[in-house]
Amino acid sequence: MEIGFAAPRELDGWMEMVDKVKDSFPGLETKEALDAHRETVQDFISRGEAVCAKDGDRVTGALLFSKENRMLCFLAVDPACRRQHIAENMVSLMLTGMDGAGEITVTTYREGVPEGIAARAFYKRLGFVEGRLTEEFGSPVQEFVWKR
Ligand SMILES: CC(C)(COP(=O)(O)OP(=O)(O)OC[C@H]1O[C@@H](n2cnc3c(N)ncnc32)[C@H](O)[C@@H]1OP(=O)(O)O)[C@@H](O)C(=O)NCCC(=O)NCCS
Repeated sequence: MEIGFAAPRELDGWMEMVDKVKDSFPGLETKEALDAHRETVQDFISRGEAVCAKDGDRVTGALLFSKENRMLCFLAVDPACRRQHIAENMVSLMLTGMDGAGEITVTTYREGVPEGIAARAFYKRLGFVEGRLTEEFGSPVQEFVWKR
Protein backbone atom coordinates (compact mmCIF):
# COMPACT_ATOMS: atom_id res chain seq x y z
CA MET A 1 0.00 0.00 0.00
CA GLU A 2 1.41 3.36 -1.05
CA ILE A 3 0.46 6.61 0.71
CA GLY A 4 1.20 9.98 -0.91
CA PHE A 5 -0.05 13.45 -1.77
CA ALA A 6 -2.51 12.97 -4.62
CA ALA A 7 -1.74 13.96 -8.22
CA PRO A 8 -4.27 15.03 -10.90
CA ARG A 9 -3.93 11.65 -12.67
CA GLU A 10 -5.40 9.99 -9.56
CA LEU A 11 -8.71 11.89 -9.77
CA ASP A 12 -10.66 9.15 -11.63
CA GLY A 13 -9.52 6.43 -9.21
CA TRP A 14 -10.25 8.77 -6.28
CA MET A 15 -13.85 9.26 -7.47
CA GLU A 16 -14.32 5.49 -8.01
CA MET A 17 -13.42 5.02 -4.35
CA VAL A 18 -15.73 7.87 -3.27
CA ASP A 19 -18.54 6.14 -5.17
CA LYS A 20 -18.17 3.11 -2.88
CA VAL A 21 -18.45 5.17 0.32
CA LYS A 22 -20.80 7.99 -0.74
CA ASP A 23 -23.66 6.64 1.37
CA SER A 24 -21.63 7.45 4.49
CA PHE A 25 -21.48 11.15 3.58
CA PRO A 26 -24.41 13.55 3.73
CA GLY A 27 -24.14 15.86 0.72
CA LEU A 28 -23.00 13.25 -1.85
CA GLU A 29 -26.43 11.82 -2.70
CA THR A 30 -26.91 13.03 -6.28
CA LYS A 31 -24.91 12.97 -9.53
CA GLU A 32 -24.74 16.79 -9.40
CA ALA A 33 -23.34 16.64 -5.87
CA LEU A 34 -20.73 14.08 -6.95
CA ASP A 35 -19.76 16.22 -9.96
CA ALA A 36 -19.32 19.22 -7.65
CA HIS A 37 -17.32 17.07 -5.23
CA ARG A 38 -15.03 16.01 -8.10
CA GLU A 39 -14.23 19.67 -8.76
CA THR A 40 -13.62 20.22 -5.06
CA VAL A 41 -11.18 17.29 -4.97
CA GLN A 42 -9.41 18.69 -8.04
CA ASP A 43 -8.94 22.03 -6.23
CA PHE A 44 -7.58 20.34 -3.11
CA ILE A 45 -5.17 18.28 -5.24
CA SER A 46 -3.88 21.41 -6.97
CA ARG A 47 -3.22 23.05 -3.57
CA GLY A 48 -1.38 19.99 -2.21
CA GLU A 49 -4.15 19.34 0.30
CA ALA A 50 -5.16 15.83 -0.81
CA VAL A 51 -3.65 12.55 0.40
CA CYS A 52 -4.44 9.18 -1.13
CA ALA A 53 -3.62 5.53 -0.52
CA LYS A 54 -3.11 3.24 -3.51
CA ASP A 55 -2.85 -0.46 -4.09
CA GLY A 56 -1.33 -0.52 -7.58
CA ASP A 57 -3.58 1.77 -9.60
CA ARG A 58 -6.56 1.36 -7.28
CA VAL A 59 -7.24 4.21 -4.85
CA THR A 60 -8.05 2.65 -1.47
CA GLY A 61 -8.08 5.72 0.77
CA ALA A 62 -8.74 9.44 0.40
CA LEU A 63 -8.18 12.43 2.69
CA LEU A 64 -8.76 16.17 2.07
CA PHE A 65 -7.46 18.85 4.43
CA SER A 66 -7.27 22.63 4.68
CA LYS A 67 -3.98 24.23 5.71
CA GLU A 68 -5.65 27.63 6.10
CA ASN A 69 -8.48 26.40 8.33
CA ARG A 70 -6.40 23.64 9.97
CA MET A 71 -9.19 21.18 9.23
CA LEU A 72 -9.43 17.58 8.15
CA CYS A 73 -12.24 17.97 5.59
CA PHE A 74 -12.84 14.46 4.20
CA LEU A 75 -11.58 11.00 5.10
CA ALA A 76 -12.63 7.59 3.77
CA VAL A 77 -11.10 4.16 3.23
CA ASP A 78 -12.45 1.52 0.81
CA PRO A 79 -14.67 -0.80 2.90
CA ALA A 80 -12.63 -3.80 1.65
CA CYS A 81 -9.39 -2.30 3.02
CA ARG A 82 -10.30 -1.09 6.50
CA ARG A 83 -8.42 -1.82 9.75
CA GLN A 84 -5.06 -1.91 7.95
CA HIS A 85 -3.97 1.47 9.37
CA ILE A 86 -4.50 3.18 6.01
CA ALA A 87 -6.43 6.10 7.53
CA GLU A 88 -3.87 6.43 10.34
CA ASN A 89 -1.00 6.63 7.82
CA MET A 90 -2.87 9.17 5.70
CA VAL A 91 -3.42 11.40 8.76
CA SER A 92 0.32 11.14 9.59
CA LEU A 93 1.20 12.36 6.11
CA MET A 94 -1.39 15.15 6.37
CA LEU A 95 0.36 16.38 9.55
CA THR A 96 3.61 16.81 7.61
CA GLY A 97 1.75 19.07 5.16
CA MET A 98 0.00 21.14 7.83
CA ASP A 99 2.22 24.16 8.49
CA GLY A 100 2.80 25.59 11.95
CA ALA A 101 1.41 24.57 15.30
CA GLY A 102 -2.06 24.61 16.80
CA GLU A 103 -5.24 22.65 16.87
CA ILE A 104 -6.64 20.60 14.00
CA THR A 105 -10.40 20.13 13.77
CA VAL A 106 -12.64 17.57 12.08
CA THR A 107 -16.40 17.18 12.21
CA THR A 108 -17.99 13.76 12.30
CA TYR A 109 -21.11 11.93 13.39
CA ARG A 110 -22.49 12.48 16.86
CA GLU A 111 -22.47 9.67 19.41
CA GLY A 112 -25.18 7.03 19.01
CA VAL A 113 -25.26 6.98 15.19
CA PRO A 114 -24.23 3.55 13.79
CA GLU A 115 -22.41 5.13 10.79
CA GLY A 116 -20.23 7.09 13.20
CA ILE A 117 -18.87 4.21 15.29
CA ALA A 118 -15.72 3.63 13.21
CA ALA A 119 -14.92 7.32 12.70
CA ARG A 120 -15.40 8.30 16.35
CA ALA A 121 -13.32 5.34 17.58
CA PHE A 122 -10.67 6.20 14.98
CA TYR A 123 -10.38 9.89 15.92
CA LYS A 124 -10.27 9.10 19.65
CA ARG A 125 -7.55 6.51 19.03
CA LEU A 126 -5.47 9.18 17.27
CA GLY A 127 -5.84 11.56 20.22
CA PHE A 128 -8.63 13.84 18.98
CA VAL A 129 -10.94 14.97 21.79
CA GLU A 130 -14.67 15.63 21.56
CA GLY A 131 -15.65 19.26 20.93
CA ARG A 132 -18.67 21.35 19.99
CA LEU A 133 -21.96 19.89 18.71
CA THR A 134 -22.74 21.57 15.37
CA GLU A 135 -24.60 20.92 12.08
CA GLU A 136 -23.37 20.21 8.54
CA PHE A 137 -25.58 19.87 5.43
CA GLY A 138 -28.53 19.96 7.85
CA SER A 139 -27.23 16.93 9.80
CA PRO A 140 -26.20 16.99 13.46
CA VAL A 141 -22.44 16.50 13.83
CA GLN A 142 -19.70 16.92 16.44
CA GLU A 143 -16.29 18.53 16.20
CA PHE A 144 -13.23 16.58 17.28
CA VAL A 145 -10.08 18.55 18.06
CA TRP A 146 -6.46 17.44 17.95
CA LYS A 147 -3.64 19.27 19.73
CA ARG A 148 -0.03 18.60 18.91
C1 LIG B 1 -13.10 5.89 9.80
C2 LIG B 1 -12.23 5.20 8.71
C3 LIG B 1 -11.67 6.28 7.80
C4 LIG B 1 -11.08 4.45 9.41
O1 LIG B 1 -10.22 3.90 8.38
P1 LIG B 1 -9.26 2.65 8.64
O2 LIG B 1 -8.17 2.68 7.61
O3 LIG B 1 -10.07 1.41 8.73
O4 LIG B 1 -8.65 2.99 10.09
P2 LIG B 1 -7.25 2.47 10.68
O5 LIG B 1 -7.00 1.06 10.26
O6 LIG B 1 -6.18 3.46 10.40
O7 LIG B 1 -7.62 2.49 12.25
C5 LIG B 1 -6.70 2.90 13.25
C6 LIG B 1 -7.31 2.60 14.61
O8 LIG B 1 -8.56 3.30 14.76
C7 LIG B 1 -9.49 2.48 15.51
N1 LIG B 1 -10.60 2.05 14.64
C8 LIG B 1 -10.71 2.18 13.28
N2 LIG B 1 -11.89 1.65 12.87
C9 LIG B 1 -12.53 1.19 13.96
C10 LIG B 1 -13.77 0.54 14.16
N3 LIG B 1 -14.58 0.22 13.12
N4 LIG B 1 -14.13 0.19 15.42
C11 LIG B 1 -13.32 0.47 16.46
N5 LIG B 1 -12.10 1.08 16.34
C12 LIG B 1 -11.72 1.44 15.10
C13 LIG B 1 -8.70 1.24 15.92
O9 LIG B 1 -8.10 1.54 17.19
C14 LIG B 1 -7.66 1.14 14.83
O10 LIG B 1 -6.50 0.42 15.21
P3 LIG B 1 -6.54 -1.22 15.28
O11 LIG B 1 -7.17 -1.71 14.01
O12 LIG B 1 -5.07 -1.59 15.42
O13 LIG B 1 -7.37 -1.57 16.49
C15 LIG B 1 -13.07 4.17 7.90
O14 LIG B 1 -13.75 3.31 8.78
C16 LIG B 1 -14.11 4.80 6.97
O15 LIG B 1 -13.80 5.16 5.83
N6 LIG B 1 -15.37 4.93 7.44
C17 LIG B 1 -16.47 5.49 6.61
C18 LIG B 1 -16.29 6.95 6.32
C19 LIG B 1 -16.14 7.77 7.58
O16 LIG B 1 -16.79 7.56 8.60
N7 LIG B 1 -15.24 8.78 7.48
C20 LIG B 1 -15.01 9.75 8.51
C21 LIG B 1 -16.12 10.71 8.51
S1 LIG B 1 -15.58 12.29 9.06
